[in-house]
Amino acid sequence: MIDKLGREFRDLRISVTDRCNFRCFFCMPSDKDIEFLDRKDLLTYEEITRLVKLLIPLGLKKVRITGGEPLVRAHLENLVEMLSSVGGIKDIALTTNGYRLAEKAEILKEKGLKRITVSLLTLKREKFPRIVGKYVDLDRVLEGIDSAVEAGFYPVKINTVVVRGVNEDEILDIAEFCREKGLVLRFIEYMDVGTLNGWSMDRVVTAEEIINLISKRYPVEEIGREGSETAIRFRYKDTGLEFGVVASVSRPFCRSCTRLRLSADGQLFTCLFSQKGFDVKGLLRSGASDEEIISSLEDIWKNREDRYSEIRFSLRERAPKVEMFRVGG
Ligand code: GTP
Ligand code: 5AD
Ligand code: SF4
Ligand code: SF4
Repeated sequence: MIDKLGREFRDLRISVTDRCNFRCFFCMPSDKDIEFLDRKDLLTYEEITRLVKLLIPLGLKKVRITGGEPLVRAHLENLVEMLSSVGGIKDIALTTNGYRLAEKAEILKEKGLKRITVSLLTLKREKFPRIVGKYVDLDRVLEGIDSAVEAGFYPVKINTVVVRGVNEDEILDIAEFCREKGLVLRFIEYMDVGTLNGWSMDRVVTAEEIINLISKRYPVEEIGREGSETAIRFRYKDTGLEFGVVASVSRPFCRSCTRLRLSADGQLFTCLFSQKGFDVKGLLRSGASDEEIISSLEDIWKNREDRYSEIRFSLRERAPKVEMFRVGG
């Protein structure tokens, strides 16, 4: 299935809740009033699984479960189990803030989760509450990461959004921490997602800056960006461990974007920066046949022409974009 820019469909990112136990300043600032979805508006695990099954003949290979914070949704392992039993999916991954990971890592592994990515912006105990917008003990997240490693996830990945004035002074410390633990680190350029974070270009630390800094301390070689991957990958020459940079601002990768995003209330988005989704929940609950739903999904992909990251600086109109905690990271 090919869209208007010749891109094949491969991945689905599923947000299972818009809620989160953190209030990161760059996502859900604690001083903003946020209206969350009602329970009845959430897709059930059965509905999500049905949709995933219908997307398999259309090319789906990879699923990533996100939020909000996915582990605040009750019994997430049940969804993992249901998705694992759908034939044809090679990869089921989870992006989490780590807060509940220590209690969940083992059961998630048991039920068929393949990979885990944990977000981590700082290693400084005193700074952590300022980043996540409330008092949270950083050790809980670090224990979550250790539990994922102990449960057998390999490699565990770390997402580090770099924001100037907040954590660019920790780039090397976080790199060192991940090297010691064998974690695959992804630095992420700060993006203008949603409407709440007051993003500006001067807070973006670019991939070039990050790589220059790292390669002054460690010899590294570029592996590049393969297929539909988001990250430009690098390898430390001494240990062979990889890390990467998701440079959606300075080196956009829309040309190879093979992703659809499903919000917790069943809207399908063709871009992280979309203004509006397609109401798949309505379709699923309308009594439509599998064939009818497949045909609508096909239309959604075939008419897609999103490339926001390529054109962000030339856009005149600044229409409100969907929030990242609704559409998934
Ligand atoms: P795998 O290849 O599945 O291991 O994942 P990854 O390491 O490439 O990371 P992931 O796909 O989770 O993406 C990392 C981060 O990149 C996300 O948390 C987002 O912040 C950002 N990102 C992911 N997909 C997109 C996208 O389509 N567009 C943009 N602009 N950013 C994205
Ligand atoms: N820019 C870049 N990354 C972001 N994330 C959340 N908001 C932003 C933003 N504005 C990251 C989170 C998490 C992943 C889901 O996306 O830190 O790692
Ligand atoms: Fe929660 Fe992740 Fe958003 Fe932080 S970035 S508030 S952890 S959903
Ligand atoms: Fe895909 Fe939109 Fe991200 Fe470009 S900006 S890579 S089209 S999700």
